[in-house]
Amino acid sequence: MKKINRSILSVILAAVMMFTAAVPSFAAGDLLWEHVWNEEYNNGVILFPGSDESEMNVSWYSATESEPKVIIDEGIVIGDDAKEFKGYSVAAPDGDFANKVTVTDLEPGKTYSYQCISEGFESNVYSFKTDADPNVFSAVYMTDIHTSHDDANPNGIKDTAEIFNSTLGEAASRKRISLLLSAGDQASEGYETEYKGYSSALGLKSFPVATTIGNHDRKGIAYKTFNNVPNEREKNMVASYIGGNYWFTRGDVLFLVVDSNNASGMDHRDFAKDAIDANPDAKWRVMMAHHDLYSGRIPHRESENELLRMIWGPIADEFAIDLVLLGHSHYYTVTNVLYNNKTAAPYATTMTDPAGSIYMVSGSITRPRDDDEIGLNGEWIGFANDPDQRIIYNILDFTEDSVTVSSYYKGEAEAFNSYTIVKTSKEGGHPKQILPSFFDSFVRFAGTVYGLFNNIGVYGDLKDAGFDVDFFEVVFNN
Ligand SMILES: [Fe+2]
Ligand SMILES: [Fe+2]
Repeated sequence: MKKINRSILSVILAAVMMFTAAVPSFAAGDLLWEHVWNEEYNNGVILFPGSDESEMNVSWYSATESEPKVIIDEGIVIGDDAKEFKGYSVAAPDGDFANKVTVTDLEPGKTYSYQCISEGFESNVYSFKTDADPNVFSAVYMTDIHTSHDDANPNGIKDTAEIFNSTLGEAASRKRISLLLSAGDQASEGYETEYKGYSSALGLKSFPVATTIGNHDRKGIAYKTFNNVPNEREKNMVASYIGGNYWFTRGDVLFLVVDSNNASGMDHRDFAKDAIDANPDAKWRVMMAHHDLYSGRIPHRESENELLRMIWGPIADEFAIDLVLLGHSHYYTVTNVLYNNKTAAPYATTMTDPAGSIYMVSGSITRPRDDDEIGLNGEWIGFANDPDQRIIYNILDFTEDSVTVSSYYKGEAEAFNSYTIVKTSKEGGHPKQILPSFFDSFVRFAGTVYGLFNNIGVYGDLKDAGFDVDFFEVVFNN
């Protein structure tokens, strides 16, 4: 009976939070957030994508080490024939443990209820739905959420997490969401407390989030134990110690999630090649990284962007990436169709079989910026000006033949920008795969050498901050 009551409670709460998110002035929203925070912050139950739509990864914190498990059943109640999946726990920075479980054998078009159990902890019962047709689904794309510890505000994490929660709730009130794509800087200081705040968002109990490591996530080591992602690259020449490259699929979409803090172009190209070789039938290729490459809105970052473009541009070209989702600058930007760092076709509301990749940067959720400092405005760049610094989120609607990206200012009914990429075949309009040029190969090699030296600096920083880390693990391997 307890399980039934908890299940009903969580369904009602989710419905009410979605409603209040859509009506921000509704005062009950504050009371509900207080309740959610008290219920969810300590253990931070959160979903991450599994390798494909038949899997779901689950993660949460608990005070002691144990063999964690997730019990899961079809419908909104956990009954006697529930399945049980066991996982493992790892020591987390704040002296507690992060529990990781993978649930498998999920079937399309079903509702599942689940509960997380570890020593001394039984979570609420939550539920999620799987897509009836795995090729047709909607994802939210946000970046730079920055749940933030603030020395001057003891409620800094709670307050920023509330903004994230309500923004995600508003997005989910528009349509059923299957996935959140979070393009880095989930936290500001890299504290475990910030990731617990991030995980408190109710939406992340009912659809998974694919996170990318941002530069702020690398300030501590909590990100390493916070996430639970599939197909993470294990062996690299240059380590992505705190959070590395991984891939997953949804229907015929392959998502390549990469660590753009790591300059090792050779590792990144190997990763992209292996991921694509493992998924030869994927029609759509979406890459997500943190650094913005083309935004050009902060002049002093343009030299960094130029170097990053030399590493990532040729990879997007060679592997025919359709859409590149980015963050970091906190400025909304959508590029023209780019190939070889040049415009192959202008941006349009519908781009059919584009002959290159479209790069997109969204604004920050808790730290939106205005346009007081416009830097490079190259002919390939298009963007929306927003002196009001409104919060931006985007909904990506995938079908077999198209992806439509709709961008919203929080609290406003209509999208302020929307465009559709159509592909009439698996290849679309991408130029035929070319062999990498000597110059591109040299840049990747130079990036790899630079990455090694940079990691020595990362090791020193982590040691200085008091973390007990191994030199070879931090510099060379995951
Ligand atoms: Fe950021
Ligand atoms: Fe950043």
